[in-house]
Amino acid sequence: MATTVAASRFLRFLEPEEENALLAAASKRSFERNEVVLDQDVPLRAIYLIEQGSVRVERQGRERSTPLAILGAGEFFGEMSVLTGAKRSATVYAVGDAVLYEITKQHIARLLDSNPRLAGIMSRTVAERQLRNLAAAVQLPPEVRAEQHKNMVEQLMRSMTKCFGRMVRAV
Ligand code: CMP
Repeated sequence: MATTVAASRFLRFLEPEEENALLAAASKRSFERNEVVLDQDVPLRAIYLIEQGSVRVERQGRERSTPLAILGAGEFFGEMSVLTGAKRSATVYAVGDAVLYEITKQHIARLLDSNPRLAGIMSRTVAERQLRNLAAAVQLPPEVRAEQHKNMVEQLMRSMTKCFGRMVRAV
């Protein structure tokens, strides 16, 4: 299972005043051990930053779940669906008691305006995580891979519908 990803510690790329403004505007939320922070497939448009504790990222299948990562203090998650418009790619649980900042899409939009480097940092993190998930998928049993494949196709259909402004369906 993967652990920390250096690029995902984005606070250190911010100016102190940007960091202060971001944390002042964010909602601070506490989670208990094993509590779900975000559910796979639920489209909630927020990014989480871990202040204390750690979280476990798991991809849910019909039959079983695949552990993807443990993330700790200073790291963020929930950026994939915010950046790509896709559904949440995994379920995230608090490992023990955890304190997180919930940062809305509007806060991120403001930060992207003031700090152009942030787009690159976030995109690199998404690319790294997606590659890691693809590598993990290669080792999955065929039926689980087939399910993931189906989900990816559905996601692409939704993106195409949005992109071309007309309903697209697989036939
Ligand atoms: P999102 O898809 O919005 O919701 C689930 C989150 O889990 C996802 O964003 C990422 O932030 C996180 N995630 C998914 N895969 C990985 C991974 N391999 N390593 C770390 N975090 C991940």
